[in-house]
Amino acid sequence: MDLQDGAFDPAAAGNSLEEHWMPFSANRAFKANPRLVVRSEGVYLWDHHGGRVLDGSSSLFNVPLGHGRPEIIDAITQQLRTNDYAAPFQTSHPGAFTLARKLAALLPEPLNHTFFSASGSEAIDTALKIVMAYHRARGESQRLRFVSRERAYHGVNMGGVSLSGMVRNRESFPSVLPNIVHMRHTWSADQRFTRGQPATGAEMAEDLERACQTYGGGTIAACFVEPVAGSTGTLVPPVGYLERLREICDQHGILLVFDEVICGFGRMGTAFGAQAFGVTPDIITMAKALTNGIIPMGATAVRDEIYETVVGAAPEGAIEFFHGYTYSGHPVACAAALATLAIYERDGIFDRAAAMSDYFLDAVWSLKDHPLVYDLRGYGMMAGVELHPDGAPGRRGNAMQEALFWGGLHVKFTGDVGILAPPLVAEKSHIDEMIDSLRRVLDAQAGG
Ligand SMILES: Cc1ncc(COP(=O)(O)O)c(C=O)c1O
Repeated sequence: MDLQDGAFDPAAAGNSLEEHWMPFSANRAFKANPRLVVRSEGVYLWDHHGGRVLDGSSSLFNVPLGHGRPEIIDAITQQLRTNDYAAPFQTSHPGAFTLARKLAALLPEPLNHTFFSASGSEAIDTALKIVMAYHRARGESQRLRFVSRERAYHGVNMGGVSLSGMVRNRESFPSVLPNIVHMRHTWSADQRFTRGQPATGAEMAEDLERACQTYGGGTIAACFVEPVAGSTGTLVPPVGYLERLREICDQHGILLVFDEVICGFGRMGTAFGAQAFGVTPDIITMAKALTNGIIPMGATAVRDEIYETVVGAAPEGAIEFFHGYTYSGHPVACAAALATLAIYERDGIFDRAAAMSDYFLDAVWSLKDHPLVYDLRGYGMMAGVELHPDGAPGRRGNAMQEALFWGGLHVKFTGDVGILAPPLVAEKSHIDEMIDSLRRVLDAQAGG
């Protein structure tokens, strides 16, 4: 193994790569032709042959500040030296309280209480349990039904998989939660190449009203949506859609949950998608950019009244909410998050993202006439580039992802949609480089 020049040869290192069962990966194809990242710095990664690769999706929407930020590394190192771990049940540590307070300042009012976990999936399952505990505390235990949406991604724990509207993620797991109702997604072909919020599609919110009519609004506990559905290729909410969901939830006493695991922390040009779209949910889930992706962390923020209701329903001195993780509010994750939030604030990262959005979307839209491009969608610093399929769905996406990687650009693909979400510190030159690489590989794929 030789990291000196960024190269690493698995065979020479005596590793067949067989033992590691990779997540969400075509293990056999990968192991025949591995793509290993051996170094990362700023907006770049280096592969195991020493090639430089631009991080076009912020490594799964994780690193808005780029890789290797010394401020975050220092904060983590300092934390490890002073207090590497503190048990979170019936004891805690100062960082968790400081972080929850900082988040309250970023979150829309009145979401001022935050429950920590270690991933987006855990943040979602925590939200499900908070919703159940809240309705129970209010004497509304009959609210057992959850509404989510087709093409939603809410992580991989059993609660999140149940909510998920991505069929492949559910089909191997028949024992998901019962009582989940899926609304239709909001995308339709007439919206193709819409930049920002589509003018059509708000009527899809009426699926929630229909669920209320079908099952009784009083049986529905919560409605979960991503403000912009990220993992299925950037589905931007139509004008008026989120507002209408809010209205229907209010009419029927349903909690509205925004899954902001991707949208949170500047991706939409504001702290949260809730502020970008001017709709305040009752609960917000977050993860990823909370720590700049450096240490795993998830969080679930709730309205004051939700916290007060659940906590107030229990006898004085009793544990109010029977839920928590060994790594809830891990001191090192809190240190990473505090350092990350400090940079967001000091460097005005959310405003920077808002200011860069036009340049980014202009660059993406320059691909509009490419023969392989079927649709473009985008908002803030995230865009979906949907390609015409090549036979089986996803075949073109897989081929593109691999060709792009070796061509110097890492992009997350879901099926045939590439999701562009560069680090929020990317310069215009990085955006140009990203689109040039994309065009070059698209041309090659098109046989041009
Ligand atoms: C909207 C959304 N929710 C939840 C998750 C799950 O997060 P994690 O992979 O950290 O469990 C993701 C991950 O991409 C996501 O995009």
